Amino acid sequence: MIIERFEDEDALSAALATFVLESIVKNPALVLGLPTGRTPLGLYRELRERSGGNRIDWSEVRTFNLDEFAGLDPSHAGSYRSYMQAELFEHIAIPDSRIGFLNGAAQDLAEECRRYDDAIEQAGGIDLQLLGIGANGHIGFNEPASGLCAQSHVAELERATREANADRFGGDWTAVPERALSMGMATILHARAIVLIATGSEKAAAVKGLVEGMITTALPASLLQVHPRVTIMVDPGAAGLLSD
Ligand code: GLP
Repeated sequence: MIIERFEDEDALSAALATFVLESIVKNPALVLGLPTGRTPLGLYRELRERSGGNRIDWSEVRTFNLDEFAGLDPSHAGSYRSYMQAELFEHIAIPDSRIGFLNGAAQDLAEECRRYDDAIEQAGGIDLQLLGIGANGHIGFNEPASGLCAQSHVAELERATREANADRFGGDWTAVPERALSMGMATILHARAIVLIATGSEKAAAVKGLVEGMITTALPASLLQVHPRVTIMVDPGAAGLLSD
């Protein structure tokens, strides 16, 4: 595991954007796994700004987002699909057909999860998976549990996770769906390379567990320790509990 420390969130976002854009230049058909949440907002701002005027050719890139709320139409203002449209997809020239997303409004959610895993496999697997991390150590919506799902699945959300997502639902955590669809641990760990980003002291305990703790399903991100190509990018707050 490589740990990269940055002086602040802006420096982290800029460095990750550089890495993503260089990866696309090297491999124009890059298969890119994407997170949502507050942490990647700076990354998406940098990607928008630096892709303008067709400076970066996104036409062959494929994206697969990590997760989506169950029961929400993709056009719902609280959906992760809406977040991605507003933060990135509307601003870059990527064909809609190359954007992979779990559809939270699908009639048969189990079938939708199978479709998604098949689509990732047919794309040749994910080349670069970007991840955030929940304060409780979740990645995607793989919440701490006695067992974790390998494949994409329907997840029950912890209250803390719903509270952390309340800002997309008018600040009311009870309006946040109780369930979500998420890539599973194998879906994530099969990516050829993984970069996890964490900022702020509320992530410090999860980051310490992820980097220095035992591998445990009680902290799903700790499973990243088994992957051969993982980089953790942190600001001083998130790095606050790491040993030097
Ligand atoms: C959310 C998402 C995750 C995200 C994490 C951290 O619930 N499902 O994919 O990485 O929590 O979010 P944030 O960056 O807002 O702290």
